[in-house]
Amino acid sequence: MFKKCDAKELLKNPEMLKLEAGKIRKKVYGDEIFLRGIIEFSNYCRKNCLYCGIRKSSPIERYRLFKDEIVYKAKIIEKSGIKTVVLQSGEDLLYTRDYLCEIIKEIKKETHLTITLCIGERAPDDYKAFFDAGAKRFLIKHETSNEKVYERLHPGEKLSDRLKIYDQLKKIGYEVGLGNIIGLPFTDLEDYINDIFLMKELDCDMAGMGPFIPSGGTPLSGYSAPHIDLVINMVALARVVLQDVNIPATTALYTLGDLSALINALNSGCNVIMPNFTPELKRKKYSIYDGKRPVSIDFVKKILPEQGFRISDSYGYRRRLYV
Ligand code: 5AD
Ligand code: SF4
Repeated sequence: MFKKCDAKELLKNPEMLKLEAGKIRKKVYGDEIFLRGIIEFSNYCRKNCLYCGIRKSSPIERYRLFKDEIVYKAKIIEKSGIKTVVLQSGEDLLYTRDYLCEIIKEIKKETHLTITLCIGERAPDDYKAFFDAGAKRFLIKHETSNEKVYERLHPGEKLSDRLKIYDQLKKIGYEVGLGNIIGLPFTDLEDYINDIFLMKELDCDMAGMGPFIPSGGTPLSGYSAPHIDLVINMVALARVVLQDVNIPATTALYTLGDLSALINALNSGCNVIMPNFTPELKRKKYSIYDGKRPVSIDFVKKILPEQGFRISDSYGYRRRLYV
């Protein structure tokens, strides 16, 4: 069993760490990359997370996509050869349980896509209803395992409540993703190592790890993003510790780095990319941080083969190493 002290030892030699992470990635997922087409369907949010550019208090222009447009985009995702759609939004309760179920059912009727939800906190019955309607994966990042920082950055909220939701989702039967923000103000290396071990302990199926990128107009706009090397080292450590979970090379990672950072991340353990299918004009308004640089499907189709990777034609569920 890999321990925290082993993790610290590995971090002393990042080149070896990344090599090891690349090997594990290859053992579990070969040269396959799973693509997830993402539709950011609403940038309304009832929450006020201090780091986020679409928080309730942000004076940004808001938008919503409705059922027909979402289903239309899902069909385009399927046509481009992708097997999963991620429906992402701020916490927008205008999308009632029934309306989201309708959207999910319609996508299931019109396509063969697997549906992932990334819509934040809802009533427990809602999660069950979405699962029964056909959504099979859920992303609910824990953001930071440091309880004090969690409370400071999420006014009126507790990490333990977030993790209760994670448990509910697992019990319902979803594949569930946790994840953190690397370089979040008031956190340090010890916290990121704890994040990874928390994800191990809770046996999450996906680990979404991206850098903090300051967002103008938020209370944390004056803080800096971390160095890209730290982000890649943490992703590599996650691969070594978590072994077989799906790990995306996140849009935030690509925004902070460049193409070489993205490729470095894939060679250091990442096996998922999430091309963006939000309509062009709305995409800019889903401004959770500054300078967001979404990955397009054409770009992915060009660079992956050049780098020796292959777009997977499987549905992209976690391939468990140990059952
Ligand atoms: N930098 C990086 N990631 C951010 N998120 C929100 N704001 C920021 C930021 N400034 C991430 C959170 C959230 C997801 C929707 O976006 O991790 O879960
Ligand atoms: Fe809303 Fe998510 Fe941003 Fe928090 S991080 S303000 S819940 S969109």
